[in-house]
Amino acid sequence: MNDTATPTPPRARRQTITLDAGEAEGFAPGDFHMITAGTRRIGVIRLQNGEFRALRDWCPHKGAAICKGIVSGTWPPSSPGELRYERENEIVACPWHGFEYDLVSGAELCQPDAPKLRFYPTAIVDGRVVVTVPATRTEQGT
Ligand code: FES
Repeated sequence: MNDTATPTPPRARRQTITLDAGEAEGFAPGDFHMITAGTRRIGVIRLQNGEFRALRDWCPHKGAAICKGIVSGTWPPSSPGELRYERENEIVACPWHGFEYDLVSGAELCQPDAPKLRFYPTAIVDGRVVVTVPATRTEQGT
């Protein structure tokens, strides 16, 4: 066994910026709060279970402002006579063509292999929702 292999140099870490989206208690489930990072629009939403999602306001299908869509639940496939509604405030329907995206996973409900919603990490810091996004070249000063 040869232990003298040349190690791979570490990749440069991409710089990030953090954005304050507001008091966590001010988010009603299902309502988007919009913030911006340069020219990027980001919607921040509280799910029914209390988790937060921050997503790029851009539909993966054709680029609509997805955060202007309707947030609701869904009717999953079922047997005749067993129709049920579930997942309130976890699904957003795009305002252009009605594709429905899962706000938990980012996947489109009927096309799970299609491009997903772009999420950014969120955290609660001192009761406020903080979103971390990659810095653009301009924001990095390069
Ligand atoms: S642009 Fe969103 S479904 Fe077409």
